[in-house]
Amino acid sequence: MQARRKGALTGTVTVPGDKSISHRALILGLLTVGETVVTGLLEGEDVLRTADAARALGANVEHLGPGHWRVHGMGVGTLLEPRGVLDFGNAGTGSRLMMGVVGGHPIRATFDGDASLRKRPMGRILNPLRQMGVEVLDAAPGDRLPLTIRGADACIPVTYETPVASAQIKSAVLFCGLNAPGETTVIENEASRDHTEKMLAYFGADIRSERHGTHGRRVTLRGQPELAPKPIVVPADPSSAAFPMVAALIVPGSEIVVRSVMMNPLRIGLITTLREMGADITELERRIEGGEEVADLRVRHSALQGVDVPAERAPSMIDEYPVLAVAAAFAMGETRMNGLQELRVKESDRLQAVADGLAANGVTHEIAGDDLIVSGNGKAVRGGGTVATHMDHRIAMSFLVMGLASDKPIAVDDMSFIATSFPDFVPLMARLGGELA
Ligand code: S3P
Repeated sequence: MQARRKGALTGTVTVPGDKSISHRALILGLLTVGETVVTGLLEGEDVLRTADAARALGANVEHLGPGHWRVHGMGVGTLLEPRGVLDFGNAGTGSRLMMGVVGGHPIRATFDGDASLRKRPMGRILNPLRQMGVEVLDAAPGDRLPLTIRGADACIPVTYETPVASAQIKSAVLFCGLNAPGETTVIENEASRDHTEKMLAYFGADIRSERHGTHGRRVTLRGQPELAPKPIVVPADPSSAAFPMVAALIVPGSEIVVRSVMMNPLRIGLITTLREMGADITELERRIEGGEEVADLRVRHSALQGVDVPAERAPSMIDEYPVLAVAAAFAMGETRMNGLQELRVKESDRLQAVADGLAANGVTHEIAGDDLIVSGNGKAVRGGGTVATHMDHRIAMSFLVMGLASDKPIAVDDMSFIATSFPDFVPLMARLGGELA
């Protein structure tokens, strides 16, 4: 697949439901007695794997219509031992959160995934779970998939300080702590996305979140709650909205509206950064939908300037650096993205994959330690390269966006992983006027 420059991008679009909230909606449904109805669920490959795992653990999960799902769960403490392997495909979030869920139950389960997921570190989840009484029966070298765990007979409540800001670690510990008597506490020095805490509170759990230090949080959950099912409305994913937004910023003459984008403060670091770069992004209407703030965002082509992106902003835009690097390539001057060490353990080594994609398309850049520096001259990028996506949806989409504005078309070697998070990316970009073929 290639993306090439054509005219301006125009129109109004709605991107699919938030991936983080979609995984958690299915998991909360599994852990709650009765029926949880979900609307706006992302029907991407990653989330469908979580749905399969929820079924294997005893939930009745029904697809009622587009984005409309019903989960009939049995409640905390009642999960069934799955008969087969839980295969999470490409999904780090689904696999890691479910390790926490299984860890809180006296059942044995084997977790596996595709070649990308098999490379990703799972010790960051297994270590706190071990402290909570989970036994790791088998794992590939370096605590990697495939791995088999036996959940705790009597889960031990712990206080755990995460070694890196990661909502996946925090959520796994909290999900395991749901079946522990007493209080489980997670301390993070940089706050990560808070969807697990918000959803647990919405379902009636006793959970509180306090400030910790300058940028951190201390989250405390009382175990063995009575969770009550509630309808869940999944807002549009800001991490998916990032692609049409950056495309509109870099394609001359563009003006688009992306509807109902979730504006959770822990997810909008990219919007903050783009605005600092001079991006014309206007909120047309801010409102609350499904317990989250959302806004319609109007985005116009803008002359961007390079900026310094502070490391402490990383958790709020962790998945958006590849597409920020694309915006930076069209900006005037240097953009320095600080503290990107976590990008090395995403669906691919994203730091290297982005650098290689920039190199293939004539963009001046440098990796300095854990920082990425991209230099632009405020004009178009050469393009003409073929980008290796390394089984990473966000690398594929980022460089296709770059191709919509570069002098020569840009190709990506593998489109298939886009279906993990944004199955209708190509038709949606085409509706805005992008040429992808
Ligand atoms: C996610 C957390 C992030 C993010 C991932 C989704 C989540 O990972 O990269 O795409 O839903 O909890 P970390 O918090 O582990 O960095």
